[in-house]
Amino acid sequence: VATLRIHHPEELWTAIRTLAVRGAPAIGVAAAYGMVLAARDLPPDSQSAQLITALHAAGDYLKSSRPTAVNLEWAVNRMRQTANAHRGIGVRQLQIRLLDEAHAIHAEDVAMCLAIGRHGVSFMRPGIGVLTHCNAGALATSDHGTALAIFYEAQRRAIPFQVFADETRPLLQGARLTAWELAASGIDVTLICDSMAGLVMQQKKVGLVIVGADRIAANGDTANKIGTYSVAQLAAAHKIPFIVAAPASTFDLALATGAAIPIEERPGEEITQVPGPVPHRTAPAGIQTYNPAFDVTPAALITALVTDRGIISPVNEAGIRARITA
Ligand code: MRU
Repeated sequence: VATLRIHHPEELWTAIRTLAVRGAPAIGVAAAYGMVLAARDLPPDSQSAQLITALHAAGDYLKSSRPTAVNLEWAVNRMRQTANAHRGIGVRQLQIRLLDEAHAIHAEDVAMCLAIGRHGVSFMRPGIGVLTHCNAGALATSDHGTALAIFYEAQRRAIPFQVFADETRPLLQGARLTAWELAASGIDVTLICDSMAGLVMQQKKVGLVIVGADRIAANGDTANKIGTYSVAQLAAAHKIPFIVAAPASTFDLALATGAAIPIEERPGEEITQVPGPVPHRTAPAGIQTYNPAFDVTPAALITALVTDRGIISPVNEAGIRARITA
């Protein structure tokens, strides 16, 4: 485990862009602290109005680091609202208030993950095999994770189960993070290549899929790591429940459907090289590439949304609005 010390918003922007900090809730919490850093990076004798102007600019800047996870935007907006609501209290007091708000966002994230685990554990029948894609665990949140919080809760309740972790090309979050995190926690985890998901379903080794989310539109369409849509199609073909676990901060009720979710495109080198300290090229030099980092799974393929506020099933706009705006 590496500790990254970040002192200025520019360092945080780079950490998010390069995935040193990644996973939708973790990006949101980090952005909240990034706004605290921006509020400190002011010339001496600045006034509250200058702080608020600086925060607006810093928020836009931090949001430009990665476009898909709405948690980033959500946290930035909440920090801006906090500043606006307390603009009369003086710069030093406002800086303290912003730090308190970032701490609150951080603590709420931990609580939301635990609540997701408690709600989602109802899907964990003893002896079940569960497939997950990417990493929606402690390394993607403040702690416990979203999809993986359900596994940790099942472990606490001594429910026996087995996890199949997709390696998650191109950046291998499943191999590098999920497999490591679950094994370190003593959970029975088996690593597979993404292309093996269909076979393990056909062989009935898997009876449930649980994934996280980066942004969920008002109708339940869900953006998550590239490859999630393929897994959802496979789960539907094998009549296996497909569950999305996410906190309220991952819902974007301003978007009617997933068609409007911005999908990040990343450099082609991520798919022409195996990642690592010394990247190793696996494709012809100069080959054309297309590297979208996320895809959108239509709500119709999602059996249930497990949120910190309870389970939404069937997945539709009325059910989502009743839980998430309540
Ligand atoms: O590109 P990443 O690693 O940030 O992608 C992360 C995912 O897609 C996760 O599944 C999602 O953010 C949920 S994390 C609780």
